Amino acid sequence: MAQIFKPAMNTICTLSLLGGAVAPFGILFVGSRITRSPHNTKVDNPLDQPIPFSHKHHAIELAIDCRFCHTGVEKNATAGVPTTEVCMTCHSQVWTNSPNLEAIRQGWETNTPIQWNKVNTVPDFVYFDHSIHIAKGVNCNNCHGPVNKMPITWKGRDFRMMWCVECHENPQKFLYKDDSHPGQSPRAQVFNFYKKLATGAKLTPEEHELAMGEVQKIPDDKVHEGYQNMKDRKVNVNQLKDCWVCHR
Ligand code: HEC
Ligand code: HEC
Ligand code: HEC
Ligand code: HEC
Ligand code: HEC
Repeated sequence: MAQIFKPAMNTICTLSLLGGAVAPFGILFVGSRITRSPHNTKVDNPLDQPIPFSHKHHAIELAIDCRFCHTGVEKNATAGVPTTEVCMTCHSQVWTNSPNLEAIRQGWETNTPIQWNKVNTVPDFVYFDHSIHIAKGVNCNNCHGPVNKMPITWKGRDFRMMWCVECHENPQKFLYKDDSHPGQSPRAQVFNFYKKLATGAKLTPEEHELAMGEVQKIPDDKVHEGYQNMKDRKVNVNQLKDCWVCHR
């Protein structure tokens, strides 16, 4: 897929070199019109799935860590969706007669994976990597909306280019920090957030926003803390807006 994008990118790069600051604005304008197509605007609508899987129930009420099911999210570009085995660690024993779980039992017996419908996507010419975002302390909810409240998963953000770039320009506003566990790595703090929700621990106003599905924003009077987080976590903001970061 990279080949499809590259020739265009060369043209874009040449244009922006020749046209200075003008060309990128033109591209962004075109981009912002194209991205209003229905394909990209399915935000907030639960997607039908072969099994009515609830994050609210499993990740919060039962307090199962995201990493138990999305095993790649800390180490890899893709988070990964759990195999039938993962579900069967519990469902061979609990709720074994539920009609809602029939597809899992069948899949297990016939050794065929469940075909989950993909909720979140970016086009093939966009490079995305989960691991670096988690390592630097970007919370899942910031990019996926209120996963903790989802009885059926929906797409929480539209993933337009300008949405990505808004944070890449000013990451100091968006990095998650759990002040009740200052000694932990930013990555551990991301997962702490869901533990807090599961145990009903006290949330800061910013955490409350995250839990409600808002984009977390460090308030202006605390922005110096955001800059400090960025420094501590060695976020290289100078290159984050470069086209090649997301189009390579
Ligand atoms: C932080 C990541 C990021 C950076 C940096 C970035 N892009 Fe994108 N770009 C995206 C995403 C995501 C999309 C797909 C969503 C969309 O179309 O808005 C996209 C789409 C595009 C498209 C297709 C337009 C469309 O709407 O289909 C073009 C052209 C493009 N980018 C050019 C650029 C150029 C030129 C730069 C540098 C000035 C750049 N991008 C920097 C993430 C990025
Ligand atoms: C018990 C297993 C399990 C746990 C725990 C779990 N998930 Fe999931 N997750 C799934 C399954 C199965 C799917 C695919 C079906 C769906 O989209 O609902 C999924 C899908 C997703 C998707 C959408 C994937 C796509 O298609 O784009 C996101 C985002 C997500 N999970 C985030 C999280 C977060 C954040 C946590 C922790 C708070 C979490 N998950 C915990 C099983 C789990
Ligand atoms: C750590 C144990 C555990 C894992 C792993 C787990 N579940 Fe569950 N799940 C439960 C429990 C416990 C319940 C029912 C609890 C209740 O409703 O009181 C449940 C309920 C459900 C229900 C609702 C059943 C009904 O009839 O209402 C569905 C659907 C479901 N799980 C799907 C899945 C899928 C799909 C996976 C794998 C991605 C999975 N579960 C992984 C423990 C687990
Ligand atoms: C910086 C934004 C961002 C953060 C933070 C983020 N995601 Fe994602 N996630 C995305 C994007 C963008 C996609 C679509 C990627 C694609 O199409 O290749 C995605 C896709 C997914 C998918 C489905 C495809 C896959 O990668 O397997 C799952 C599951 C998922 N995310 C889970 C999580 C979990 C769990 C966390 C937190 C531990 C998390 N995400 C944090 C942006 C993010
Ligand atoms: C809420 C903030 C935020 C959002 C939203 C976000 N990013 Fe990032 N992104 C970061 C931070 C922080 C880094 C780490 C930069 C560093 O450490 O220097 C990063 C790094 C990256 C990298 C570099 C990975 C590497 O291996 O060098 C890519 C690629 C990237 N982001 C793509 C995207 C795309 C595509 C989107 C939109 C779908 C997106 N990001 C949305 C904050 C964000």
